[in-house]
Amino acid sequence: ELVYLNGWIGSFEDAYISVNDRGYNFGDGVYEVVMAYDGVMFALDDHLKRLAASAAAVEMDLPWDLQQLKSIAEDVLVKSSIKRAMIYIQVTRGTAPRNHFFEPDIRPNLLVTVRYAPETDPAMYREGVKVITHPDFRWQMCHVKTISLQANIMAKNRARRAGVAEVVFVLPDGTVTECGSSNIFIYQDGVLKTHPANNKILAGVTRQYVLQVAGSLGLDIKEEPFNVSELFKANEVFYTNTVIEVMPVVNVDGHVIGNGKPGPVTTQLHQGFITLRE
Ligand code: PDD
Repeated sequence: ELVYLNGWIGSFEDAYISVNDRGYNFGDGVYEVVMAYDGVMFALDDHLKRLAASAAAVEMDLPWDLQQLKSIAEDVLVKSSIKRAMIYIQVTRGTAPRNHFFEPDIRPNLLVTVRYAPETDPAMYREGVKVITHPDFRWQMCHVKTISLQANIMAKNRARRAGVAEVVFVLPDGTVTECGSSNIFIYQDGVLKTHPANNKILAGVTRQYVLQVAGSLGLDIKEEPFNVSELFKANEVFYTNTVIEVMPVVNVDGHVIGNGKPGPVTTQLHQGFITLRE
């Protein structure tokens, strides 16, 4: 496992950053998580484009272009010799004595880590998982992949204490947005629904590819908000992210989804996604 930090490459044990890093002090930074299969990163361009968009949204000027970021990430991955890897790319605003105001010429800190991809228990895909709903108490810029994840962390750990795999965020009007670290979809009578990609969710890279697979399967796709009662009544529910890919949900707040087993459409979409990234 390998770390790249501002041009330096070495082990996790030897990698250090200043306590004045604004990521450390303020959570002032943006990030991406990318998977590599067989030594090749999947959808790296999509992730780097989103990283640039996140940086722009928080008024951070990146001193690297996408091609430079790409070659840095590829170089660390190759040096790590890890075939099935999880790559974490983080850019913080930079290092300066703690002050909410930042200087316009501050230089961002770039961190890239390459680790063995975490193994997800195959039984979770086979049997499906339970989730709970939770008030969406985040901010108005959920389209930004910020490292400030306090709300997500609190909600996800409440889910863990409740003995379930993920948390589903719900707005005060009952609208389902997304999950603690994934996007959520429902399938009902031929229609696949997921929240539109606006400021209320992170537009997942996996979400986009799953929608592409759904289109090729001829499903009726609606990128529209849906509410909690639709979620409870859906024939199928699943969530997506880069590491998990597609996870079937069989229970929401104690309501059984479908027949309590992963649905056929969910399975087909996951299979289609696996074919795409192979
Ligand atoms: N999280 N929504 C949120 C809030 C997320 O944190 C993530 C991903 C997604 C899915 O995005 P993608 O399909 O591009 O991975 C949606 C990553 C995996 C993480 O924080 O570890």
